[in-house]
Amino acid sequence: MKRAVQALLAVVFLALAVLAIFTGRTGRDAENRIDLVPRPGAATVFRKEATLRNVTKGPIVYTLLPGPGRTAPRTRTLAVGGVDRIATDLPVEISFDNGRRTTTYLVHPGRPYSFRYDESRVIRVYPGSHGRQDAADLAPFVPTPPEVVARMLEVAAIGPEDVVYDLGCGDGRMVIAAAKTRGARGVGIELDAALVEQCRAAAKREGVGNLVRFLHMDAAKARLTDATALVLYLLPESLEALAPLFERDLRPGVRIVSHDYKIPGWDDRIVHTEVLPAEVDRDHRVILYRMPEKR
Ligand SMILES: C[S@@+](CC[C@H](N)C(=O)[O-])C[C@H]1O[C@@H](n2cnc3c(N)ncnc32)[C@H](O)[C@@H]1O
Repeated sequence: MKRAVQALLAVVFLALAVLAIFTGRTGRDAENRIDLVPRPGAATVFRKEATLRNVTKGPIVYTLLPGPGRTAPRTRTLAVGGVDRIATDLPVEISFDNGRRTTTYLVHPGRPYSFRYDESRVIRVYPGSHGRQDAADLAPFVPTPPEVVARMLEVAAIGPEDVVYDLGCGDGRMVIAAAKTRGARGVGIELDAALVEQCRAAAKREGVGNLVRFLHMDAAKARLTDATALVLYLLPESLEALAPLFERDLRPGVRIVSHDYKIPGWDDRIVHTEVLPAEVDRDHRVILYRMPEKR
């Protein structure tokens, strides 16, 4: 009898596991899917989802405000690193207390967002983050102005002998400029598939398709052993998270030039820093590092 019950439980467990694999829903994902207007019997009511990812260092409590078809607010707690998937075909208002005041944001279906810190360590909702659980969330897409790109390449003395990597390359402008203006080869790594398409089209348009390539992958999983220079525009916590990768793969003498943000704990490797005058939109900082001899 005991054996029969055990066998039955094993079969049920296996069936549930197979179901989870085929529907792509782990327990955690399912728990984080929020159907705003659940309709009994309908497995998929909405075609789209807005994803909200928590890349802060603490849980986030936020409220989904009432909207079309829903009268009551719903309060959620999103764990560190967690992703909520809000199934909706209409924009949804969310609000949360960022420690200073209650702020409200409109999140749109089909787009990813993240809760992350701004430069003053205040938590805000940022668009453009990928909202994926299997990849590092390095920064939302905010392009570096062309004048700043040009100065970064100049400061790092990029030339035809260089292989320039941009981790989180956005629309590819940094490696494309490195190829076009300095004859360097380049590798851009980007997680957003639509941006990778843009990069490849832009490289072709600019006539540097033979010098640059773009990889659609998580930059945190990249191999950088052939890089002679990195150009970066990532958040400080992302630079900190990537630092072990730099230590592992980069050879002595490799230059790293970063837009705006320093690599935490690397001040002794800075060889140059400058603030570009605010002629573009605001001040932009350029920081140049050089990899030391291996200890
Ligand atoms: C601040 S933008 C910088 C774009 C470009 N480097 C520039 O300076 O114009 C950061 C980029 O990193 C991408 N990104 C975020 N997480 C990533 C990851 N794990 N792997 C690759 N790219 C990522 C984002 O999609 C975004 O395009």
